[in-house]
Amino acid sequence: MRILPLLLLTAACSGADLTGNWVAAVSNTDGTVRRTYFNLKQEGSRITGWIRTTQFYYLITEGSGGPDGFTLTGTMKDGSAERRATFEGKLVGDELHITTRPNAKAPLTEMVARRAPQGEGAMPARIPPPALHKVRDNGLARTPPMGWNSWNKFARRIDDAIVRGIADAMAGNGMKDAGYLYVNIDDTWEAERDARGNIQTNKKFPDMKALADYVHGKGLRIGIYSSPGPTTCAGYEGSYGHEEQDARTYASWGIDYLKYDWCGARNIYTDQDMQAVYQKMGEALLATGRPIVYSLCQYGRAEVWKWGPDVGGNLWRTTGDIRDSWDSMTKIGFGQDELAPWAKPGHWNDPDMLEIGNDGMSDTEYKTHMSLWSMLAAPLMAGNDLRNMPASILEILTNREVIAVDQDKDGKQGRRVSQSGEQEIWLRQLSGGAHAVALFNRAAAEAKMTVKWADLGMRTTPHRARDLWSHSDIKLQGPEYSTAVPGHGVVMLRVTSGGAAP
Ligand code: GLA
Repeated sequence: MRILPLLLLTAACSGADLTGNWVAAVSNTDGTVRRTYFNLKQEGSRITGWIRTTQFYYLITEGSGGPDGFTLTGTMKDGSAERRATFEGKLVGDELHITTRPNAKAPLTEMVARRAPQGEGAMPARIPPPALHKVRDNGLARTPPMGWNSWNKFARRIDDAIVRGIADAMAGNGMKDAGYLYVNIDDTWEAERDARGNIQTNKKFPDMKALADYVHGKGLRIGIYSSPGPTTCAGYEGSYGHEEQDARTYASWGIDYLKYDWCGARNIYTDQDMQAVYQKMGEALLATGRPIVYSLCQYGRAEVWKWGPDVGGNLWRTTGDIRDSWDSMTKIGFGQDELAPWAKPGHWNDPDMLEIGNDGMSDTEYKTHMSLWSMLAAPLMAGNDLRNMPASILEILTNREVIAVDQDKDGKQGRRVSQSGEQEIWLRQLSGGAHAVALFNRAAAEAKMTVKWADLGMRTTPHRARDLWSHSDIKLQGPEYSTAVPGHGVVMLRVTSGGAAP
């Protein structure tokens, strides 16, 4: 008696099957549509297939259930790492009602998927990457690029009006005069391609050429963002299979800088393909004839510093994304020591954009951030809202004496020369025989720190020393110099000896 209703239920559902291609479409406010595809094959209570969402392509490794309720676990490989996502749902009428949690901390996302033509949303076939060769040096970025990038502060909210406002601010507040030049639009400017395959801008950027003209009119340059994959990190249209066409489009708009972000490419290529894949865009940019700085963003994988210059790269990210916290900034910044030999004019290690002014750190910590990046000959890409910042933040960003260290024409990246507990001394060779010396105190409490000149390889006490944050000369006497360094703070000096220029 008890079995009967169950049997009836099974019979009622037997016509329904999850097998097929499904798409859930969510409209973004910028006029683009975010699609998640479910390609399912149901055999009894076992479900196989794939799920594609934004930058992710999962193979269903555990799938079970049926129309009344199913659970799908997708797995994707990312280099040596593995990423998993779980989707739960049921068939309601002719729709799949699905919930997922993009990551452990994220809220539950709900979506409704409808049947889609077979093949829609499938990962495109792998285009074999080109054979390796050396891309001609574009001659740009002889000193580390300086400017601004939209991602750290605005992420998906960036639009034409904000970019114009940032350009106005940069041109008028002293930043341009201090060397900041590039106004760079990160992810989420893209729309789908037109019938001829040309990349379009979405509603947030009604006319990219007009925007570029505006930025150029301020005496500044403009940068843009894409991915070698079919999708960018935020799930927008990437340059896959359209590299030359996109490079030509950027050039026709008047773009001066491209950040090219791996993300979506990992679903098609492996880390072993990276060099060839980046080479393809490097060549494409050169072929436009327009000077375009080429910024590689693949999180420091595959020892990019060894081949970045060969693909035409002017800079390459060395780590994952920075966050606006002391821990994130110091973990990245103080972890760069061993990469020093790879930096040189035209080709820079990029420990990611600045978080100065985004409120997650104190001014003292932001001075450490600015000093450390300058010791590292790092690109200085401000990442805050330049239209609206306290004077103290503008002062940190425009400290010309610190910037002069970053921009030193010899392009030699600084290195850690000593470490004692949480105190570190870094040294950077500058042109004309000068040196930058930074005393970093990573501890929370003030500490007395001492530099012994002999430990820095100097035979005599430097004749001249300048404190680059207090903007004052210091009198040096004897074989060492001691000073109090605030908690999480820095004392940064420029020293010259013998016949060296002051
Ligand atoms: C990645 C990059 C970031 C930013 C975002 C945009 O995470 O590392 O710098 O460009 O993508 O989606």
